[in-house]
Amino acid sequence: MVSRGGGRSHTMNKNFTKSRELDLEDIKGIGPVIARKLREAGITSVKALAVTPPKLISELTGLGESRAAALAAAARAAIGLSLMSARKYREIKMSMSKLTTGCRALDKILGGGLEPQVITEFVGPFGSGKTQICHQLCVTVQLPKEKGGLEGGAIYIDTENMFSYERIEAIAKRFGLNPDTVLDNIFYAHAVNSDHQMEIVKEEAPDVIEEHNVKLLVVDSLINHFRAEYPGRENLAVRQQKLNEHLHDLLRLAETYNLVVVVTNHVIATPDAMFGPTERPAGGHVVAHMCGYRVWIKRTTGGKRKAMIIDAPKLPEAECEFAITDEGIVDV
Ligand code: GTP
Ligand code: MG
Repeated sequence: MVSRGGGRSHTMNKNFTKSRELDLEDIKGIGPVIARKLREAGITSVKALAVTPPKLISELTGLGESRAAALAAAARAAIGLSLMSARKYREIKMSMSKLTTGCRALDKILGGGLEPQVITEFVGPFGSGKTQICHQLCVTVQLPKEKGGLEGGAIYIDTENMFSYERIEAIAKRFGLNPDTVLDNIFYAHAVNSDHQMEIVKEEAPDVIEEHNVKLLVVDSLINHFRAEYPGRENLAVRQQKLNEHLHDLLRLAETYNLVVVVTNHVIATPDAMFGPTERPAGGHVVAHMCGYRVWIKRTTGGKRKAMIIDAPKLPEAECEFAITDEGIVDV
């Protein structure tokens, strides 16, 4: 179950209100019966209908595939998901605010912060600072837009049991926010295995995102359960298939709800006859392909950290330094 960051149960939070445009019933061909089927299947908005593959809609709702395809097409038409001029595309992209990391140097190499509708991956060895960055983002997402926030809540899917409300409290104070309010707006789940992790994203997240204006979804770490449950070459194909499905689910959420999605990833050492052991991100091509931005974090001297943009199709390779303090990640 997704629960609040403070570990307390509350009535609905009033800080962030949901914003909703069209209802499912506004789409041609959708009456109350089909709307109910879609909602029960977790397809609760027109945008979700527009971006879900018809085959999946059909599987989830029992509707025929051609019917599902027609509904999805009507939904896409209704929200203008069709050919558009590149100038219009630029206008849409430019109107989307990026999320500050709270660290100027890191924002700069990311091209101004984290982009919504895209998966950003932080990869690095243990202790490099991935979890600290995720914690900080759960706070900065709540900042006003003029301070680089998105005025929204966060979902934190924790697979390694490393979430710390103490860190959130400390970071919230640094940014001048009320720690209790900040915790109220973080929806936390400890995913106990990969199926549970996938289920949270598929089943639970959409409602929470809509109800609480969530603008950031963190999976820390993406890979932990998948690596443990599908070890060795013999399980590689099924592991990659599951990971691919999970990443597609995450990307669909990102696109549907205009979310910033952040995942963390481990590095693995692979033997190389020519250059000796080399390190690379776990998860192979599937993760590399699905993540729009990939940031490699390393420890450097004096307890500082180095962040490097790697394999990002839209950004030049760049690097910067930052430090981890009691109040989160900071510029050096
Ligand atoms: P794995 O999850 O093990 O792969 O590592 P990670 O990359 O997520 O590392 P994480 O973000 O947990 O960073 C851990 C490091 O952050 C520790 O080694 C500490 O150096 C630093 N750190 C964590 N908490 C604090 C704190 O309260 N104060 C300070 N100054 N540093 C901290
Ligand atoms: Mg971690």
